[in-house]
Amino acid sequence: MILGFIGTGKISSSIILGIFKSKLKVRRIYISSRNRSIAKKLDKKYGKIKVLNNNQDIIDKSSVVFLGVTPNIGNQILPKLTFSKNKKIISLISTIKLDKLKKITKNMNVVRATPLPPIEIKKGPVIIYPPKKFAKNIFKHIGKVLEIRNEKLSYKFWSTASLMAAYYEILNTSSNWLAKKGINKKLADTYVAELFLALSQDALNKSSQGYKKLVADSQTPNGLNMQVLNELKKGNFFSKFSKALENVNKRVSN
Ligand SMILES: NC(=O)c1ccc[n+]([C@@H]2O[C@H](COP(=O)([O-])OP(=O)(O)OC[C@H]3O[C@@H](n4cnc5c(N)ncnc54)[C@H](OP(=O)(O)O)[C@@H]3O)[C@@H](O)[C@H]2O)c1
Repeated sequence: MILGFIGTGKISSSIILGIFKSKLKVRRIYISSRNRSIAKKLDKKYGKIKVLNNNQDIIDKSSVVFLGVTPNIGNQILPKLTFSKNKKIISLISTIKLDKLKKITKNMNVVRATPLPPIEIKKGPVIIYPPKKFAKNIFKHIGKVLEIRNEKLSYKFWSTASLMAAYYEILNTSSNWLAKKGINKKLADTYVAELFLALSQDALNKSSQGYKKLVADSQTPNGLNMQVLNELKKGNFFSKFSKALENVNKRVSN
């Protein structure tokens, strides 16, 4: 398989790093010279990477083309590019809809995919719309593929995917608190990451039970977990959390 990436930014490079850690068989990966420093690093690290300056060359030489640019750049450059009928396209672009992508690429083999940066370590969900074998057969090697049949519903995941920074801030706050109380910072960082990793793994294993049960099972009456949960509820933490999801949803649905 020969892959091409138009735009070598954060998400393209995360996918490429994941691919090279996986069993996916690739003959070559053509990447764009933008971003220059990321492209240089990838080129130096992997013999199968070739950097090209011209987006059309990347398309012509690849069987599957990833679109890893922002919506503004996508709208500017895609109408000037030519995609042959047999080309397979995976758009990572957040807000250009499938119909428009098909129209401007004059191609029907188009999939919208939403991976997240942990794909770099072969972890995390990858939303794919519409379900297409060629996309699943790539992403199944580097993440958990979730196929969605309704484009409007696929946007809903943008809200939950936007929890990344807030999640890391919870880790940051917890670790800083431990450090302020005299715990070695490195130990605090490790403890916090291991704690949340264990909780997430446990939640995944028990997801069929429903998370409400996990919330209940992790509290004893008048215990410490109940105290924290109630304090956060009183401060409207969770309603603000839901409101933030709702506000992102409004923004991406327009
Ligand atoms: N980051 C995420 O977690 C994530 C997850 C899923 C989807 N997405 C979506 O994926 C897309 C890319 O996001 P990103 O975070 O990877 O953004 P990014 O890091 O800014 O990457 C965009 C890349 O496009 C390059 N570029 C600009 N003009 C170009 C051109 N004419 N031809 C080729 N490449 C060009 C930029 O190069 P220069 O730096 O040289 O300008 C940059 O390397 C966005 O639509 C985003 O919404 C992102």
